[in-house]
Amino acid sequence: MTSRAGAVIQASDMAASMGVSRLHMRGNGQLLKCFRRILTPSQRRVGTSAEACQPLTVHQDAGKSFLTLQEESLERAERSVLISCPSKTSEKKILKFLSKYGTINNCFFYDSYGSYAVVEFASRDGISSLHGAASLPNIQHEASVPFKSRLLTLKSNGVDLSDGPTSLKLQPQTSLSVNELIQRLAKEESIDQQLHSLTSTLELTNENIALRFLVCSLLKDVAGAFFPECTIRLFGSSVNGFGKLGCDLDLFLDLDTVSGRSIKRPSGLAVEYQTKRVASERTVTQSVLSVVGEGLEQFAPGCVGVQKILNARCPLVRFSHQPSGFQCDLTANNRVAMKSSELLWLLSRLDERVRCLVFMVRCWARAHGLTSSIPGAWITNFSLSTLVVFFLQTRSPPILPTLEQLRELASPADKCVIEGNDCTMVSDLSKIQLKPNTEPMETLLQEFFEFYSTFAFNRMSINIRKGMHQHKPEAAPLHIQNPFEAGHNVSKNVNTTQLERLVALCRESAWLLAHGGGTIPPGTVGAAGAKAVPWGIAALLMPSVAEAAGVKGRKKKKREPASERIKNLLQSLNKPARK
Ligand code: CTP
Ligand code: MG
Repeated sequence: MTSRAGAVIQASDMAASMGVSRLHMRGNGQLLKCFRRILTPSQRRVGTSAEACQPLTVHQDAGKSFLTLQEESLERAERSVLISCPSKTSEKKILKFLSKYGTINNCFFYDSYGSYAVVEFASRDGISSLHGAASLPNIQHEASVPFKSRLLTLKSNGVDLSDGPTSLKLQPQTSLSVNELIQRLAKEESIDQQLHSLTSTLELTNENIALRFLVCSLLKDVAGAFFPECTIRLFGSSVNGFGKLGCDLDLFLDLDTVSGRSIKRPSGLAVEYQTKRVASERTVTQSVLSVVGEGLEQFAPGCVGVQKILNARCPLVRFSHQPSGFQCDLTANNRVAMKSSELLWLLSRLDERVRCLVFMVRCWARAHGLTSSIPGAWITNFSLSTLVVFFLQTRSPPILPTLEQLRELASPADKCVIEGNDCTMVSDLSKIQLKPNTEPMETLLQEFFEFYSTFAFNRMSINIRKGMHQHKPEAAPLHIQNPFEAGHNVSKNVNTTQLERLVALCRESAWLLAHGGGTIPPGTVGAAGAKAVPWGIAALLMPSVAEAAGVKGRKKKKREPASERIKNLLQSLNKPARK
């Protein structure tokens, strides 16, 4: 780890080398480092042997609610540390070394401009023991900030932590490039297999999810200095079931326990600072985020490029967490977004076809530049997921229930009202019973593209609360209602050009699938090592498709219509969306 990235543990010898980590401010500001303090043998504790340590496993989560799963993951993260390891290190030796400080439940390694270990101890004592043993490097011209972070560096000063060529088994934190993905998909034998393969290649791994919760918990250590009882929660694609390796980290600073809103019966006591007068809730959110943003910039190891975007509709602090490589957006007072993440998570678990189709549509949109990591007039992944959900609600029989149906199944404990919006929905998945629908994913994908090729976007709004389209209440080119805030259009940013590109690409992709795109070309499978011909969904991810269909004014390739339906689709390529 570079000195920029955070606190440091120095391992000066195998017997006594962990030191208390402290932040340092170097000359111009936030360069963070540590000094060193040698541990005496009596300060050490012997924990689990390295051999007993298991890699992260899939946690048994069947039947657990979204909130329970989040709380369990956060609790594990609070017992974990992030350690930058020297290169050419032996996994076994590192674990043996660390297990002297406490029983290790889980551990994995990854690479992000250097090797890191995520180490989950059986209890927080392991962290105290590490902190008690860690030292700070004695560097001139640096002033230290007394903050014990759980981001540490292990240095092999005079210690042999290497084990010849058998170094660390690194867990991938990024996914394949589109070209590699196309090659992999081309080798599958059916479109349904391709969709499964795409999902399992791109989805977040257990390790990546654990790292996301750990970063969340590291940030809470800083925010907790200002608001001791706060929590930082994850929302968005990190937890909604549709996260792809490399997606951003959406964080929500939850001050509800601090604000006292959860206290139902007044006791006669009032806390003075809670009643300090400010213009509005928004002003409070802005000042809380401003303070926490400042804290992250000044004191949080590894947080760089902190920007306070406080005048946005939803004020946020944006920054990079260098050691994990995550781009983070921290918001406060954003409970409705937590609820929409829970809704998507719930829907993603009802039928495996949901995740496969959402992953495909998100990946397809990215491959053709319909989505972007830069804010602008592009459609967002959240809006695309909503389009898939809506389409699946309209199947016969429906593959997904409407939000109103989920509300009807809710128990009294599920009741939830946020800022006047009824966000109640069932949390027990076993209560949701739908009529069987056995449509293959190939059919669903093709019909998804056809559905949105001809959808009357100019007049109609998409409403997943009712599973029905409705007349648009405003003139935005694309109108997708926020499931919990009926008056809010989640795709307000999308302009006419981007909507036209989306529709043109849907038409082209529907045509490709109908025109033999679903048929595997002879000789594609079985030629080990040979470059497979992109077919099926692999062909839909090819850039040439976008050029042929999406860009206005370009010469279209001449094609032979295979059926009346395809001929109509081809003709519709040059027509505006249905009125
Ligand atoms: N959200 C919302 N309204 C919007 C945009 C976002 O309610 N107009 C909420 C959704 O709950 C969404 C979350 O904020 O899941 C995070 O937004 P974003 O990061 O844009 O979407 P993700 O679903 O996280 O997808 P991505 O993988 O692109 O980050
Ligand atoms: Mg996100």
